[in-house]
Amino acid sequence: MSKKIVLTGDRPTGPLHVGHYVGSLKKRIELQHEYKQFVMLADVQALTDNADNPQKVRDNVLEVALDYLAVGIDPKLSSIFIQSLIPEIAELTVFFLNLVSVARLERNPTVKDEIKHREFGKSIPAGFLCYPVSQSADILFVNADYVPVGYDQLPMVEQAAEIARKFNRFYGEIFKDPKPLTPKSDMHARLPGIDGLGKMSKSLGNAIYLKDSSDDLRKKVMSMYTDPDHVRVEDPGKIEGNVVFTYLDVFGDNKAYVQELKDHYQRGGLGDVKVKKYLFEVLENFLEPIRKRRLEFAQDPDQVMKMLKEGTREARNVAHETIKKVRAAMRIDYF
Ligand code: TRP
Repeated sequence: MSKKIVLTGDRPTGPLHVGHYVGSLKKRIELQHEYKQFVMLADVQALTDNADNPQKVRDNVLEVALDYLAVGIDPKLSSIFIQSLIPEIAELTVFFLNLVSVARLERNPTVKDEIKHREFGKSIPAGFLCYPVSQSADILFVNADYVPVGYDQLPMVEQAAEIARKFNRFYGEIFKDPKPLTPKSDMHARLPGIDGLGKMSKSLGNAIYLKDSSDDLRKKVMSMYTDPDHVRVEDPGKIEGNVVFTYLDVFGDNKAYVQELKDHYQRGGLGDVKVKKYLFEVLENFLEPIRKRRLEFAQDPDQVMKMLKEGTREARNVAHETIKKVRAAMRIDYF
């Protein structure tokens, strides 16, 4: 029996951070052993709100590819590919646009939220409003069984499933119903930024990057949001909403010791600096090997591009098969 298919991707708009790691990268490293996994560098989608800055997208294709390799996404097990080099995705997008209403696109809660934050004003790029359709094509061209994503991407997988059903109804059974795979807990799905103000994100400037140096990491950990009412060491402190403890819950392997720290902090007598120093150690142990592997891969960017070329070739083969079936089903297979 053939393996089930998984597809995920990221917009190459900046380097990946530890929030990406706990929310999705870790899962991909596991899934690649069990499934046929495609990991996409969504450069076309990145251009939907960076049309004026193609160099940024271009540069980040390599950055994100390096992050993938550094954390252990293995090109022998996963096909890592570049979206823009699969023209069949663009072709499917055009066909799929007929299966979606403008009103449906305007209701997409993630897109709505993004539009609010992007300050497009009255000139929302049509490509941006329509990117969920393009993302449906990303998912359906490989006929993915599973799409591992954060909660914010659930509307996209739902959109893809709707398009798949409608396509099948109009033209015949071609597509499977893609299912989302979500992070194992809310804490993993929404790792807070170091400022404790919201989810970790590049645009909020509150991220710890996988490629951060040891010094940067130390500075970031030392500046982390804790309990603002924990003024003197003797004071009892709060661990709820305290980012340092949230991170220890996610990254600390020694659960018993973390519990001890929590108890001590809540009783009073444990200073923030001490807990932060321990968290730094925990994160440094986690990031050090990733950083090292990343530097090794970064020495040979040609090799990385070659790997992407091979992954893209694999994805393209699948795309070719899919589009043949789609064209036949749609009665546009003329010659
Ligand atoms: N929209 C996703 C993000 O912003 C990236 C993405 C593009 C994606 N195509 C995809 C994710 C297909 C999963 C499946 O992170």
